[in-house]
Amino acid sequence: MMFNADELKKAFMDDIQAAKSEIQLSEVWKKYLGKTGSVQGLMNGIKQVAKEEKKAYGQFVNEVKTWVQEKYDEKKAQIEAFELQQKYEKETIDVTVPVKIRPMGNLHPLTTVKYEMINVFSGMGFEIFEGPEIEDDDHNFTRLNVLKDHPSRDMQDTFWLTEDLLLRTHTSPGQIRVMDSQKPPIKVLVPGKVFRSDSDATHSPMFSQMEGLVVDKHITLCDLQGMLDEFVKGLFSDAAKTRLRPSYFPFTEPSVEVDVSCFKCGGHGCSLCKGTGWIEVLGGGVVNKKVLENCGIDSEEYSGLAFGIGIERIAMLKYGINHMGKLFENDIEFLKQFKA
Ligand code: PHE
Repeated sequence: MMFNADELKKAFMDDIQAAKSEIQLSEVWKKYLGKTGSVQGLMNGIKQVAKEEKKAYGQFVNEVKTWVQEKYDEKKAQIEAFELQQKYEKETIDVTVPVKIRPMGNLHPLTTVKYEMINVFSGMGFEIFEGPEIEDDDHNFTRLNVLKDHPSRDMQDTFWLTEDLLLRTHTSPGQIRVMDSQKPPIKVLVPGKVFRSDSDATHSPMFSQMEGLVVDKHITLCDLQGMLDEFVKGLFSDAAKTRLRPSYFPFTEPSVEVDVSCFKCGGHGCSLCKGTGWIEVLGGGVVNKKVLENCGIDSEEYSGLAFGIGIERIAMLKYGINHMGKLFENDIEFLKQFKA
C-alpha cells in the first residue's frame, strides 16, 4: 500500500508557513510529528502493509518524516532568530536619553559631627562603649559621687521613672559601667542620648553627649588638655587651642570647663565668641578618687581623666545653627543644606 505524500507535504507546508510564533509552531509539531500526528499515523499504517512491501513502505515513510522534520527545524530556527531579534530590539537601551538623577539623602549634621568626633578620638586609641538610656540612681548619681542632696537630682532636671529608675541625665554613668567591667588601662568614648527637663534655644529635653574616660597610671590634667587640643584641631581648625577654667563636678577633682579659641575670628573677638576670643565647649577633669574607689580601682596606683561633650553644641558652633530645636525638627529643607 503506497500513498500520495504530496497532499500531506502541502498541508504541512501551509501550516508551517502560517506559524508565526514558537507556540504556533509547537501546535504544528503536535499535528504532524507528535504521537497522534499524521506522520506517526503513516508509521502505524505499516501494520496494514503486505509483508513484501513493508521495507519499501518503511523507507518511504522515513523519507517523509525526515523531510517534515527538516522543514520543521528550518522554520523553528527562523522563528527563534526572529523572536530573539525582537527581544533584543525591545530591550535596547538608548544611552543618549538623559539620566534621571535620583535625589540622594545625606547624613544628619549631628551624625556627621558624632562620626567626626569618634574619628578624632579613635585616632588616639579610644574604644566605643554604649550604656543604657534608662539608668538607676546608683550609676547615674551615687557612684559618681553625686550625693542624695545634690541639686542636679532635683525634680526639675531629672526625668524620674520610678523611685530608683530615671532617664540618664548624662553619659557619665557609662564611666561606672566601663570601670565595673574592665580593668585599667581604660580608654573609652561613650556616645549617647541624655535627657533633662529643660527647653530653650540652647537646651532640649533630649540631647546627645560624648563621654570620654581614660584610666591608667600617671594620668593628669595635662593629658586631658593634650587630648582635647587634638579634638578641637580635628573638629574646628588646625589653629584651634583650648583653655581650661576651674569648675565643679562631683565626679571630677579638679574639674574644668574647657573653652576653644574662637575659630571664626581666630581669637580677636567677634559676635560668635561675644568679643572674648573663646567659646565654652565642654566639661571635664581628673576622675575623683572616690569614683575610682567606688568601682574597685586603687586610686593610689591609678588616676583618670574624664570629659563630657555636648554633641549638639559642637554641631551648632560648627555650622552656625542658632536654635537647638532645628536639630530635632527634621525639616528636610534645613537638613538638605548639610549635603557633603
Ligand atoms: N557629665 C557632665 C555633664 O553632663 C559632664 C562631665 C563629664 C564633666 C565628665 C566632667 C567629666 O554636665
